[in-house]
Amino acid sequence: QTLSLDPTSIEKGEYPHYMLKEIYEQPHAVQDTLDGRISPQNDEVIFKELEKYREYLSGVNKVFIVACGTSWHAGLVAEYLLERYARLSVEVDYAAEFRYRYPVLDNKTLVLTISQSGETADTIAAIGEAQSLGAKVLSIVNVPSSTIARNSNMVIYTYAGREIGVASTKAFTTQLVVLSLLTVYLGLLRRNLPADQAAVMLQDLKRVPNEISKIFTEVDNIKRIARAFHKHSNALYLGRGVGFPIALEGALKLKEISYIHAEGYSAAEMKHGPIALIDENMPTVVLAFKGRRYEKILGNIMEVKARKGKLIAVASASNDDITRVADEVIRIPDATESISAILAVVPLQILAYYIAVEKGCSVDQPRNLAKSVTVE
Ligand code: G6P
Repeated sequence: QTLSLDPTSIEKGEYPHYMLKEIYEQPHAVQDTLDGRISPQNDEVIFKELEKYREYLSGVNKVFIVACGTSWHAGLVAEYLLERYARLSVEVDYAAEFRYRYPVLDNKTLVLTISQSGETADTIAAIGEAQSLGAKVLSIVNVPSSTIARNSNMVIYTYAGREIGVASTKAFTTQLVVLSLLTVYLGLLRRNLPADQAAVMLQDLKRVPNEISKIFTEVDNIKRIARAFHKHSNALYLGRGVGFPIALEGALKLKEISYIHAEGYSAAEMKHGPIALIDENMPTVVLAFKGRRYEKILGNIMEVKARKGKLIAVASASNDDITRVADEVIRIPDATESISAILAVVPLQILAYYIAVEKGCSVDQPRNLAKSVTVE
């Protein structure tokens, strides 16, 4: 018998597509990524892989996050987390832009790259550029012994397992989990995060696998919404704070696999342009989970409603008021704002999936896209 390297040799099992299988694997993938990384007392993040660089990491005064595609969206979430909880100054850039813009970095800069495949050409080039300027590179990678893993000074693996669907799902949620752990790790190391707050954050992270599982009870609701909306040719995705990059990621998922034009925006920016597009033919998906900006999001929702826009809200379980303003509501469990961001992407993946299925699209291998972009 010969060993087949055909990706289809990994069984889809009961699932019609790898993407759906990978969406459902998320509780497990997140659990594998968390395992062994939080001390039983919730007082410490265990990253043995960073031990040699503790001194460097304590002295860092600037973080550049560099990535492409979905991994770049994870980087945007991390910007909010690292600034708020580790009090680090963060800049996020596309790898292709970073490598050619004359970035100002030195041996007090940490360059953080994020990559599922570890083989994205632009990200590899950015690492070389950063190191030549004296910065150390920490990479969050899913594929072991990939080029990015080999070329970086420090590597933290996500344990999503092999991801076959071109549209990234479980790699993204595991990246968000590693970035949350890294935030606590750096916050504690640099004494910017109080121990009691860190403990609460770590306890919350331990609950994520279970909370993601609860979201699957929404699948029938999401399927129904997909059937109702799949004929539209445009969609707007809005969010604020950590919900903003999740809006970008939701729009990307829809574009990638259903070929519907979708744009993600900060809900606050809507009035500077996209609001002109809103009418009954332009549905808006809004991230309306609990957090510091929830009231403002409700205000943005009213602006969409006033223009007869159809609204699909992803909302926390206990947000009762949302049913009065949104046409459709998809629930996620109640959680802190940072955890809600991780949870909220799951229904957006499922929504994009069922819309693409309704449209008869090639979900696992969308036209013109590659799982890993190894050319510039
Ligand atoms: C391609 C894939 C995306 C992925 C991006 C970055 O565009 O289709 O799903 O997010 O590359 O890939 P990486 O492997 O570096 O995360």
